[in-house]
Amino acid sequence: MPPDSQELVAQLIERFGTWFEDERALEAGRMTRHLYPYEHLFSPIQVNSLKIKNRIVMGPMGNVSMADETGRPSTKMIAYYAERAKGGVGLIASGIVPVTFAVDPSFTEPGNLAPDVLIRHLPRIDGSRTVFAGWRDLAEGVHAYGAHFFIQLSPGAGRVGSPECVVKRHKLPVSASWNPNFYMPAVPCRPLTDRECWKVVRATGQAAADARACLADGVYLHGHEGYLLEQFANPAFNRRKLGHFADWEAFGLELIKEIRRRCGPDYPIWYRIRMYPSATSRWPCARPTASAWSASGPSSVSGTSARSR
Ligand SMILES: Cc1cc2nc3c(=O)[nH]c(=O)nc-3n(C[C@H](O)[C@H](O)[C@H](O)COP(=O)(O)O)c2cc1C
Repeated sequence: MPPDSQELVAQLIERFGTWFEDERALEAGRMTRHLYPYEHLFSPIQVNSLKIKNRIVMGPMGNVSMADETGRPSTKMIAYYAERAKGGVGLIASGIVPVTFAVDPSFTEPGNLAPDVLIRHLPRIDGSRTVFAGWRDLAEGVHAYGAHFFIQLSPGAGRVGSPECVVKRHKLPVSASWNPNFYMPAVPCRPLTDRECWKVVRATGQAAADARACLADGVYLHGHEGYLLEQFANPAFNRRKLGHFADWEAFGLELIKEIRRRCGPDYPIWYRIRMYPSATSRWPCARPTASAWSASGPSSVSGTSARSR
């Protein structure tokens, strides 16, 4: 281990202790059949036309620096997911994949990157078809072990995107209305026009159709943690007075309708929402939201307890 890593590990141990050396604590955290009462964990579950072999899902974790410059999933990324599938998980979701780089300026394309920028060689599905081979290899690697694979589609980061676009691209970050940037509140985020919203809707339908062509078993909408989709769905951030997207449900519903239109009635759509409101939020309530959206066509809605932004 390099000396600077040793120092970091020592600091972490000092802060969090050595619980990982306690065999009994580790045993309690292992997923085994002895973990009563998880009676259904290892039983299959049907999602539309898809039968998933168990109820263990690997959540989306951004695949930063796991794609080549074109956005094609690298051999490292393909091997990483195959290894997870080999471990026995029923369903794997990729980390965020932007549906377009043409609307939200905080989604920066390769070639216009600073070393500290969040979005760095993210896998892509928009634009060039040369990336498809990588996604197909990835899906086939996962399928080989009986697991299923969804691609997580992100309409944008919005106010939770890097404000660097102001100095690097001379563009303001975007949001549902005029809102402060999460990282630098002094930086205003401008509201997307209705036309830009429809562009994102169409790009999402295209990305889902491409995901399907790349053998992904479904798509997962990135609708939580205060990112652009949630900014539209949260009246604290969506204070639009005019136009279709003044309705806090409209943006999410249009995305689902467009995916349904492009991919048919059975293609699994999973929608991620945040389960609890932040102190400042007027987000109505996760449960009615989930049921309204469920009725409109996603196959499943999942919630996250992750912190609000
Ligand atoms: C390194 C890392 C990357 C993540 N990337 C994503 C992502 O791309 N998309 C997403 O929806 N959530 C992402 N998350 C959030 C996780 O999916 C998950 O919600 C979070 O770790 C909290 O777990 P919980 O929801 O079980 O409480 C990421 C988390 C981590 C630690």
